[in-house]
Amino acid sequence: MKIELLPVVKLEQLTPTIYALHLRSTYIAGTIQPGQFVNIKVQQSNYPLLRRPFSVASKEDDTITIIFDVVGEGTHILSKKEPGDVIDVLGPLGHPFTMPGRGSIPVLVAGGLGMAPMPILTQTLADHGITDVVTFLGARSKDSLIDYKLKNVHFATDDNSKGFHGTVVALLDAWLDSVKAGKVTVYACGPNPMLRALQSALRKRSVGGQVSLECVMACGVGLCQGCPVASVKGDKKYELVCKDGPVFDIHSVII
Ligand SMILES: Cc1cc2nc3c(=O)[nH]c(=O)nc-3n(C[C@H](O)[C@H](O)[C@H](O)COP(=O)(O)OP(=O)(O)OC[C@H]3O[C@@H](n4cnc5c(N)ncnc54)[C@H](O)[C@@H]3O)c2cc1C
Ligand code: FES
Repeated sequence: MKIELLPVVKLEQLTPTIYALHLRSTYIAGTIQPGQFVNIKVQQSNYPLLRRPFSVASKEDDTITIIFDVVGEGTHILSKKEPGDVIDVLGPLGHPFTMPGRGSIPVLVAGGLGMAPMPILTQTLADHGITDVVTFLGARSKDSLIDYKLKNVHFATDDNSKGFHGTVVALLDAWLDSVKAGKVTVYACGPNPMLRALQSALRKRSVGGQVSLECVMACGVGLCQGCPVASVKGDKKYELVCKDGPVFDIHSVII
């Protein structure tokens, strides 16, 4: 991991509030693994003080892409960047997704902007010769469904504007009726209520998987102890989302 000043290659507006920011970094593009994140200082002044964490969504040659939603001051500042601007980026950070066991089908499950780490996961699986990926993507409405570089996508919307009418977990649960538990590995990211429902559905079926968690982070590198998640692993009571995660075994954490 290191701090670099990265030039903005392009800022694409995907929806009224969601953007894809392309940054040039030979180092991060060459070392990033799916599920890892970068910690961005959104402008050179000390406001906002803290860096903001973002999954790396994809990489191509010497360029990485961040997909973000404008939710507050930091992401608002990022949405105004232009080609040629430089951004202070720390990364790659965190524990990545790992590849599925031999013969296991990777099933990617994302809610809203939880899709962010899925394109690079899809790309990395393909690099390992694994192309039978199945993706489940849910959102409140079709306007927030971002299927950027995703493959074989089944959609779910709360308002019935596209795909299955209901939650992405309900859609996945119905699909799992048709496959053997030991034959799939689930990879998930999304809001905590969705992840809790997913964890419970998978536990009932004895299906395993990996989950990428989000939380507000201060340091992003394991120093401040400000990002604990309760663990059910051995006698370890807490793990740090930034350092031990953000990717965990889905049955090892209390979400
Ligand atoms: C490992 C990791 C990867 C992430 N990847 C992405 C990504 O790829 N794309 C993306 O859009 N966002 C991602 N996030 C969330 C992103 O970091 C926050 O949306 C961002 O920091 C908000 O900054 P802000 O200054 O715009 O908002 P703030 O003004 O800081 O906050 C605005 C609102 O968003 C809430 N918020 C802030 N940070 C988080 C957070 N981490 N999780 C949940 N709610 C938060 C605040 O409580 C507040 O209600 C990720 C977070 C983590 C921990
Ligand atoms: S954010 Fe500081 S320890 Fe995780």
